[in-house]
Amino acid sequence: MLDRRSFVVSSSALAVSLAQPSLAERRGPTGTALSPDMPIPLGHLPSPHAPADPSLIALNHGWLFHEGDIPVPAVRGNDETYAATKAGNAQGAAGLDYDDSDWGTVQLPHDWAIAHPVESDQNDAFGYRRRGVGWYRRYVVLPADWHGHYLELQLGGMANNATVWFNGVPVAHSLSGYVQQTVDLTPYARFGDEPNTIAIRVDGDVMEGWWYEGAGLYRDCWLAVRPALHIATDGVHATPRAQAGGGWQIPVTVTLANAGAAPGKATVEAVLQDANGRTLAQSSATATATPLATATAAMLLRVAQPSLWSPDTPTLYTLHTRLVQGGKTIDSRRTEIGFRTAGFDAASGFHVNGVPMKIKGVCIHQDHAGVGVAVPAALMEWRVRRLKQIGANAIRFTHGTADAGMLDACDRLGMLVMAENRHFDPSPEYLAQLEWMVRRDRNRPSIILWSVLNEEPMQGSEQGYEMVRRLAAAVKALDDTRPVTAAMNDGMFTPLNGADAVDVVGFNYKHGWYDRYHKLHPDRPLLSTEDTSAVMTRGEWTSDTARNVLTSYDTEAPEWGLTHHESWRMIGSRPYIAATFVWTGFDYHGEPTPLPWPAASSSFGILDLCGFAKMAYHLRRAQWITAEPVIAIGPHWNWAGREGQPIKVMVPTNVEAVALSLNGKPIRRQTCKPFETLEWQVPFAPGTLEAIGYRGGREVVRASVTTAGQPATLRLTPDRPMMLGDGADVQPISVDLIDTNGLHVPTANDTVTFAVEGGDIIGVGNGNPNDHDPEQGNARKLFNGFAQVLVRSLPGAKQLVLTARVAGLPAARVAFPLVAAQARAVAVTPSVHHLGEWRRTPFVAQAPDARTIYPAQQWRSLSYVRTGRLEEAQPARAYTLIQGRFMPRRHVAARGGTLHFAGVIGRAELWVDGQRVASKSDAAEAAMVATLSAGEQERVVTLLLQADAGEATGLSRSVAVW
Ligand code: GAL
Repeated sequence: MLDRRSFVVSSSALAVSLAQPSLAERRGPTGTALSPDMPIPLGHLPSPHAPADPSLIALNHGWLFHEGDIPVPAVRGNDETYAATKAGNAQGAAGLDYDDSDWGTVQLPHDWAIAHPVESDQNDAFGYRRRGVGWYRRYVVLPADWHGHYLELQLGGMANNATVWFNGVPVAHSLSGYVQQTVDLTPYARFGDEPNTIAIRVDGDVMEGWWYEGAGLYRDCWLAVRPALHIATDGVHATPRAQAGGGWQIPVTVTLANAGAAPGKATVEAVLQDANGRTLAQSSATATATPLATATAAMLLRVAQPSLWSPDTPTLYTLHTRLVQGGKTIDSRRTEIGFRTAGFDAASGFHVNGVPMKIKGVCIHQDHAGVGVAVPAALMEWRVRRLKQIGANAIRFTHGTADAGMLDACDRLGMLVMAENRHFDPSPEYLAQLEWMVRRDRNRPSIILWSVLNEEPMQGSEQGYEMVRRLAAAVKALDDTRPVTAAMNDGMFTPLNGADAVDVVGFNYKHGWYDRYHKLHPDRPLLSTEDTSAVMTRGEWTSDTARNVLTSYDTEAPEWGLTHHESWRMIGSRPYIAATFVWTGFDYHGEPTPLPWPAASSSFGILDLCGFAKMAYHLRRAQWITAEPVIAIGPHWNWAGREGQPIKVMVPTNVEAVALSLNGKPIRRQTCKPFETLEWQVPFAPGTLEAIGYRGGREVVRASVTTAGQPATLRLTPDRPMMLGDGADVQPISVDLIDTNGLHVPTANDTVTFAVEGGDIIGVGNGNPNDHDPEQGNARKLFNGFAQVLVRSLPGAKQLVLTARVAGLPAARVAFPLVAAQARAVAVTPSVHHLGEWRRTPFVAQAPDARTIYPAQQWRSLSYVRTGRLEEAQPARAYTLIQGRFMPRRHVAARGGTLHFAGVIGRAELWVDGQRVASKSDAAEAAMVATLSAGEQERVVTLLLQADAGEATGLSRSVAVW
């Protein structure tokens, strides 16, 4: 077994398809040159995308949250137990009448663990942050005209296990934080003014991984409102297939589901359009779904010569799927698809559209500085863009299914994806998780591989083989167009093992075994599913135990890993290895290997936790980018006190030769060698150290570092000069200090405080693994020159203004317009004490005594009454007592309150605790209201109801206490 703590050994050892300005030309909004270590701003709003599923309404606002578990109160007595075990009668915080009036409100995505302090007695794997259990509740009022529709709750991701109740009924148990829960709410939904209650208990202590997993409802939630006959979730399957004789076919299969009580018949139309709305192909089919069943409609589209999708040209087409009944579109989906072939070859590696392409990939986890795993969609898109800036063309989403937002960005920006499930387990529950992933993502052009395991102890055994075989078969049954792999780090040479059951063999590390395996199995395609694991701390140039930092000279890697240089030499020089997947693109919280406390986040990233560049970024750009000349120079040139001493200088580049000069004086020209980085020892003198890159004897590119003076200005560099004012748009803003000449100061570590108007600060970070200052708040120290602040727009605001201050300097301010935009969202319903369940006595001819109180033991002999429903009409005038009991919520117990029957039909008297408090002499529907006195005791409410002959009476609308 690898000893994860034993490790660091010192070793001696698009191109960017989006039109990016070259690193040297980049300027911030104030016109000052940006440091090449800063993210390259987008400069404009990303192009808008119509929703893929217009039936989805965002359910991210208005969640009540309680951190900590809430034990279910003990139930005693057979009658109470009888009642407590019925559908709809969940007890405690899962139940309908739980008092949540003192809970806070949160907006999703939400990760409660990231707000916790870093504590030395917690698990380093999780970034030394406590996780625990949390509860969420959300009230939802469903308009009456949604009655008869199909309603579905989509909970994107709950870290890590969760139970979900809807109106007191347990409707889902989630055993993984990496899968969406899709819950049919239709049978339990109440409409009109009766609120519905969603209650969710999330167990953040369940471990699914050995990295920071966060805690809570950390992905988006949605309410789908569809007609009874509708297109099922993930119900469109459309993968383009190249035809042997030329041209393409797209078999389109659409799954309809029918929640109604009668058979549903409809026409399904499939229309394929290009980005300009031009129709390329269309077809239609009819299908009939019987009640509570599904049906599929199959069509075939043909396209002769589409523009192809590739990482460099991510051309997408839109498949519009419409469900049409009586000439009206009743449901629709928009599926982005791309035409591409992709395949693995045992000798020549990976090919896209017939062209060999080395997969230059990075592994990533899903968290970011400041927000933990609660990464909003806009930040996901930004993260993919930032990885493209490295020159990467692929992402492996380790070790669990990524949020759909990440994959949307990969499809649109051109990133190949190795998709991966979390659990290596073919038992039904876990197989279903894998199947969900494949069904959700099989239309995406970005996905080129499905992986079914990562470094599992059983990988090298017959059991491992049998497990992989089953998982692979489940994938194939849903998608026969993509190969299956397994990320193995051992056992691939045993007589029968997981690698024998996959299409493409995946190696994690074990760099030294590639050739042996290839020789033994020359017909098996092979890729590195994970490698490198080199470690460095951004902006640090010496490994220093006292300061707990790692040098950026690319000399440090754990014993199972290699430096960036060694790893790329191994993989880049072997055409049969289809891919590198560098561990990792970004640093992540947790797994601080190899640094001990106080380091709380990893050091493997090419980019730090915020996305600022480490030296690895420049090394990888030089290794990976071929379409344009690349050059960078490190370290920075601020070495006051070390004048005359030699400084090791590195120039990562993809050119042929480099001439280095200091303050205009030539130092030495060197010729580049494959897989190596040029190095010089340069005695330090303040000024400018410049590297000029040559190809064919001509200068093609240059880079320099200049000694920066004292900080003079605090600079804020947003990703883009505007945001959407929808309350969901987020962008990162880089924070640094510049001197009077506009030069970035790489050694600054000042504390910066922030204030925002028209938005919220949702997180702050600086990439320092040893810094335990809160990631949620309005202050952060710069770390080696940089900090990052994440801002989110306020819904309806016109402008977002961020002000930043650092001691002794003028405040910096950045303001940008918020473009009017409104996300379709489920209205927020405040916490309400709704009394939905009552009992009643049989109807009798004489009015009974309304002072009678029925003890709980007698309730079983009484009839159930529910709000929103009337009692059956009586043949002659008759009376009944409707009775209920409730514990007042805290504020009512303290100050008194109001009992409000929104609608009672029939003449009635209202009694509370044996006192008559209101009466109603007209039988027509009307409200009844009573004042409640303060007091903590249980209240008994009795309605003496008179039904006239032939008239249905009862509690026609909600009953609430406030
Ligand atoms: C791998 C593992 C990753 C991460 C990495 C660190 O073995 O798959 O999740 O732990 O090591 O080097």
